[in-house]
Amino acid sequence: MSNKPDSIPSSTALEPTRRDFMMLTALGLAGVGAGTAVWPFINSMNPSAEVLASSSIEVDLSPIQVGQTIKVKWRGVPLFIRHRTPNDIEEARKVPMNVLPDPQTDDTRVKKGHEQWLVMIGVCTHLGCVPLIGEGEFCAGDGGGFFCPCHGSQYDTSGRIRKGPAPRNLAVPEYAFLSDNKIKIG
Ligand code: FES
Repeated sequence: MSNKPDSIPSSTALEPTRRDFMMLTALGLAGVGAGTAVWPFINSMNPSAEVLASSSIEVDLSPIQVGQTIKVKWRGVPLFIRHRTPNDIEEARKVPMNVLPDPQTDDTRVKKGHEQWLVMIGVCTHLGCVPLIGEGEFCAGDGGGFFCPCHGSQYDTSGRIRKGPAPRNLAVPEYAFLSDNKIKIG
């Protein structure tokens, strides 16, 4: 069964036309707007805790360029997946533990052998805003830090809280590498 909306004309061409693209983009934007507007209603129909606990997603990392951070949604919250630069990693590793409000070494926040990948829940540990990616003074020159504009919390290239009212580092969810380019979260 096709899940293509009725309003999108079917096409036998292999490449979508520019018009198709524009229509899909407009529908996508409309979907985002509608999703935002009806969030309280949908949220009230969330599945049970058992269903949420068992939900997991797989993410293909291969399109994510070095220095790029993507956002994906998992169990109703945003996840940040950053393909760290060598500079990000170096900056994170050289931080002494005694300057960290929530001391954690960088290697405990990533998977051994996959240190270039940083996977975190993108929710500020202060009051739950979604931090901005690639802003703040802990960007290491590559945009690797995270800044929460709500009250000014700043997270470094390992997602650790460095400045501001947030008490803890950005949380790292349970995840595993299925291959070098694929992870399963949850
Ligand atoms: S919610 Fe992020 S600093 Fe307050």
